Amino acid sequence: MYLKVIIVSFVVLLLGALIGFLAFPMLFKELVKRVRQFPQSVNLKPGSETRQLWEKMPFPLTFKIYVFNVTNAQDIEMGGKPKLQEVGPFVYDEWKDKYELMDIEAENAISFNMRNTFQTRADLGLSGEELITMPHPLLQFMTIANLEQPAETLATVALGLDIIFKPQSAFITAKFKDLFYAGIDINCDQEHAAAQAICQQFQAGAVPGALPGNHTNAGRFKVSRSRSRQSSVGRVLAFNEAKQLHIWPELNNTSCNRLRGTDGTIFAPLMRPEQGLWSYSPQLCRSLTPQWMGRTKYNRLPAQRYELNFGSARFFQTEPDLHCYCTDYPDNCPADGTMDLVRCSGTPLMASLPHFYQADQKLLAEVEGVQPTAAKHASILIFEQVSISFV
Ligand SMILES: *[C@@H]1O[C@H](CO)[C@@H](O)[C@H](O)[C@H]1NC(C)=O
Ligand SMILES: *[C@@H]1O[C@H](CO)[C@@H](O)[C@H](O)[C@H]1NC(C)=O
Ligand SMILES: *[C@@H]1O[C@H](CO)[C@@H](O)[C@H](O)[C@H]1NC(C)=O
Ligand SMILES: *[C@@H]1O[C@H](CO)[C@@H](O)[C@H](O)[C@H]1NC(C)=O
Repeated sequence: MYLKVIIVSFVVLLLGALIGFLAFPMLFKELVKRVRQFPQSVNLKPGSETRQLWEKMPFPLTFKIYVFNVTNAQDIEMGGKPKLQEVGPFVYDEWKDKYELMDIEAENAISFNMRNTFQTRADLGLSGEELITMPHPLLQFMTIANLEQPAETLATVALGLDIIFKPQSAFITAKFKDLFYAGIDINCDQEHAAAQAICQQFQAGAVPGALPGNHTNAGRFKVSRSRSRQSSVGRVLAFNEAKQLHIWPELNNTSCNRLRGTDGTIFAPLMRPEQGLWSYSPQLCRSLTPQWMGRTKYNRLPAQRYELNFGSARFFQTEPDLHCYCTDYPDNCPADGTMDLVRCSGTPLMASLPHFYQADQKLLAEVEGVQPTAAKHASILIFEQVSISFV
C-alpha cells in the first residue's frame, strides 16, 4: 500500500501565515470611512457590515512563494557548502475563511475555526511541475527528532526509514506541487515491524511536518466581538479553548505564552501606532507585531510604516520578555533574525525572513546563493490612517 504523505506544506503555511497575517485587512478600505466618527461601528456582532467581510473574505490574497533549490546535494553530503538557487514565484490565491462560527452572547465573543485554502494560479507564475531538490524533510525530521531517544529506538527508527525510503541521499527531488501540496508517495507495503511502526505513525497523522495544510483547520479561535473596557474588537480571548499557550517555558513571568492582539484579519480602529499591530499566528505559536518605523505617505494620504523582524541578540538583552523564545537563556538563543520552531511544530525548523534578511551574518556565510536586500526581502507594512487599511 502506498501512502500519500504531505510533507512540508506547513512551511508554506508558515510563510502564508506571516504574509496573510500582514497583508490582510484591505477589506476595510470601503468600510471604515465612517470609523473616525463612530469607532463603535466596527464590531463583529451578527448582521454588522464588518461581520460579513470578516467572516468570508470577498476576495483572495495573492500568495507568492519562492523556494530554494539545492543544486549540489552530492557535494553537501561530502561536506561541501550548500549552493542554493531561488525558484519561483509559485502563485496561489489564498482564501481565508472561518467556519463553525458560534456567538457567545454572555461573553460578547465569537468562536470559529480558521481555514486557509490555496488555489493554484499557474497563469501568474510557474506551473508547479518544476523539480526541486531539498533536504528530505521526513528523513531529516524523524532522525533529528529522535536523536535524544535511547540508542535502541534510534536504531529501530533508522532501520524503518531505511526500509521505507531506501535512501540514496538525505535529499529529495520531486515536483514542487507534490512536495508542497499534493504529497509524495511512501511505500508502506512492508513486512518489517520497524517500517510498519513508522507507517502507522504517518497514518495516524502523528508525524509533525507530515500534516496537510491546505483547506484544513488552522485552529479554533475565540475573539471579542466589540470594544469593551477589557478588550478591543477582534482580540483573541482563547485559542483551541485555552486562554494562553503552554508552549514556551515560563520564565520570570515573560509573555511568550500570552495571546496578544487579534487573529490578524481585523485590527481595531484608531489605535496609536506605538501600540503596534499585534496578532496571534498559530503557525508560529506566537503573537507578533511588526515594529513601528514612523510616519509615511501613501497616495498622498498619511500612513504609518511598520516592519517585521524576529529580533536579535541585542533585542534579547533589552527585552527580557523575549527570553522565553530561547532554548536556554542566555547560552542558547536562536541566532539573530531567526526563530526556533521546534517547540511549535515539533520539527527541527528555524524561521527567518527571506534570504536571512536582517539575520546573523554568520548564517549568510554558510550557504551560497542568498542575497538579502531590503527592497526584496523586508516585510514592510503601510497602514493607512484614514481608512485604516493595509495597502
Ligand atoms: C533544481 O536543482 C536540480 C539539481 O539539484 C536541477 O536538476 C533542477 O533542474 C533544478 N530545478 C529547477 C526548477 O531549476
Ligand atoms: C487546496 O484544497 C482545495 C479544496 O480541497 C482544492 O480545490 C485546491 O486545488 C487545493 N490546492 C492545491 C494547491 O492543491
Ligand atoms: C530572571 O530574573 C532574574 C532576576 O531578575 C535574573 O537574574 C535571571 O537571569 C532571569 N532569568 C531569565 C531566564 O531570564
Ligand atoms: C506578570 O506579568 C503580567 C503582565 O506583564 C502582570 O500583569 C502580572 O502581575 C505579572 N505577575 C507577576 C507574578 O509578576
